[in-house]
Amino acid sequence: MYMAKKISNTGKVVNKVMPGQIPEEFINDLRHRVDIVAVIGEFVPLKKQGRNYTGICPFHGEKTPSFVVSPDKQIFHCFGCGKGGNVFSFLIEKDAMSFPEAVEHLAKRAGIALPNIAVSPEKDKRDSLMKRYFDINEKTAKYYEQLLYDSSGKEALRYLQGRGLKTDVLEKFQLGYAPAGWDMLTNYLRGEDITEQELLTIGLAVKSKKGTLIDRFRNRVMYPITNETGKIIGFGGRVLDNSQPKYLNSPDTPLFSKGKQLYGLHLSKGSVREQDRVIIMEGYMDVITAWQNGLTNVVGTMGTALTPEHVRLLMRYTYNTFICFDADNAGQKATLRGLDTLQEQGCNISVVSIPDSKDPDDFIRKEGRARFTEIVERAHNLLEYKLIKLMEQFNTQTVSGRIQVVQELIPDILKTKSPIARQACIQMVGERLSFPETAIHAEIRKAVSYQEAPKENSKTVRFLSAQEKAQRILIKLTLEYPELIGEVEENGGKELFKIALLKEIYQNHYVIRQSGHNIKANDLITLLGDSASQKVLAEILLENELPEDWKRIYKDCLVLLRLELLQQQINHKNNMMLDMEKQGEATKVLQLMASIQQLVKEKHSLATALRKGGNLY
Ligand code: UTP
Ligand code: MN
Repeated sequence: MYMAKKISNTGKVVNKVMPGQIPEEFINDLRHRVDIVAVIGEFVPLKKQGRNYTGICPFHGEKTPSFVVSPDKQIFHCFGCGKGGNVFSFLIEKDAMSFPEAVEHLAKRAGIALPNIAVSPEKDKRDSLMKRYFDINEKTAKYYEQLLYDSSGKEALRYLQGRGLKTDVLEKFQLGYAPAGWDMLTNYLRGEDITEQELLTIGLAVKSKKGTLIDRFRNRVMYPITNETGKIIGFGGRVLDNSQPKYLNSPDTPLFSKGKQLYGLHLSKGSVREQDRVIIMEGYMDVITAWQNGLTNVVGTMGTALTPEHVRLLMRYTYNTFICFDADNAGQKATLRGLDTLQEQGCNISVVSIPDSKDPDDFIRKEGRARFTEIVERAHNLLEYKLIKLMEQFNTQTVSGRIQVVQELIPDILKTKSPIARQACIQMVGERLSFPETAIHAEIRKAVSYQEAPKENSKTVRFLSAQEKAQRILIKLTLEYPELIGEVEENGGKELFKIALLKEIYQNHYVIRQSGHNIKANDLITLLGDSASQKVLAEILLENELPEDWKRIYKDCLVLLRLELLQQQINHKNNMMLDMEKQGEATKVLQLMASIQQLVKEKHSLATALRKGGNLY
């Protein structure tokens, strides 16, 4: 379909559908002028990895990125769900655009004049209706805003100033005042040729018992709510005293739906992307006060729990979310409900705890930006947060209470797929509950075998420990990328492999490489002679494909095994030291002590690095 612009008799430019097609050359030219990485980058945070870019697939829920964009080929592909195509297909899939709409969008973006814009007549109609609604909201916001600085808004302005807000931030968020009369706004808008039906549809007026229209918002401080692009989609209005309801919001309208929008996103999105993190709060005032104090990467859920829509919206800008809900009980419940949503969609989650039952607005006003930033830095990752909550719930003075905590937490530990992240979790849980890690492993095994017991005829799945998994992954990776062998050797080589069969496979591979043979995985199977190691190797080679971010996993595995090795060496030297002490060999004792200290230091710094990177991917 092909469009021509026409001047209507009212003087406005209108679109009219004409038969025909968008010229091929135009599309080709357009494709050359836009960069798929930049376009997709607006929806999905992308990281460069070799020639390509990778990210979390926006089409299916995943935690490790399997979504790849190739700048050379100008295509994308998801190894997880199989979606793929070029920049047009992306927009069509992701943003539900029609092909002509995608063309229009990209042309606009590239600054190419579009002599003919192709849009469907329905969309055209919908667009102009929406535009009219946006205009009405805009008019309304201006009306409210002007009243805030008028004599009738005196009390409202004083209220806002009393809460510490300065003029620039009032203007930034376009705060206003809805007057106290019954139908002030309604009358004003009627005079602007806006129909009663329109006022009802966008929720600015309600029908009174008498059947006349009255204003929805009366004698309230008004907070316009914008969508991601800055268009006003609804309003929140706060009473000036303690009456109820404290906040009144626009109802669900064709423009507005509370669970799908985030307050402040339009203003914050640039800084969210820049800082690669977002702080999610609950209230209008939280967001505004944060802004006034220079914290600009904040959004508000407007009192609701986080929804999948919220999360999808945020994931266009960052994967790093800091939940900063109120410290009261309702806030805590909302926090926990939202978190699983976030995690299911692949975000890194940190939970900020505000001390002394304050909300972010209170806290920032009283304690200042620096203290707030401090508590954000001290945020707990999701599992740790859940652990803390469980420890408050059970009696951790008793062993049975602590075991209960572990049992409650096992499903979450099992959800952590990366061996290293899981190991970090287990270590953290062990430390907090003063349990040896082996005890936690045992609880996990118990839970897993219990879960599996009732399944008849199903193949028994063997659960691998993090260490065993890490060894298997290293074998697979060194076969695929032999250049890694050097680093594996530096970190201990075959000593890293504690499982005999796996040690044998690695060592065979290493020796063959050392002798200058460029051996393929398949050949190694043949060379391995013994059938048990052949079987294991085939299993390793055929189990899961390497994820796109294998480099990170590779590092994790290496660190995990290195930590184990260090611990073993420390134990060994400790025993030796005891022996030497008994034999009165003072010099040897001192030597051993120094070398133990060295090992402990290395272990510590590795463990810290691990903990820092130990987000639950
Ligand atoms: P809070 O009750 O925490 O309010 O609700 P607040 O933001 O701290 O408000 P102030 O500081 O008393 O002014 C958090 C958010 O929940 C929504 C609003 O979006 C509010 O900002 N809410 C709350 C409502 O929609 N209706 C209500 O009656 C209360
Ligand atoms: Mn508050």
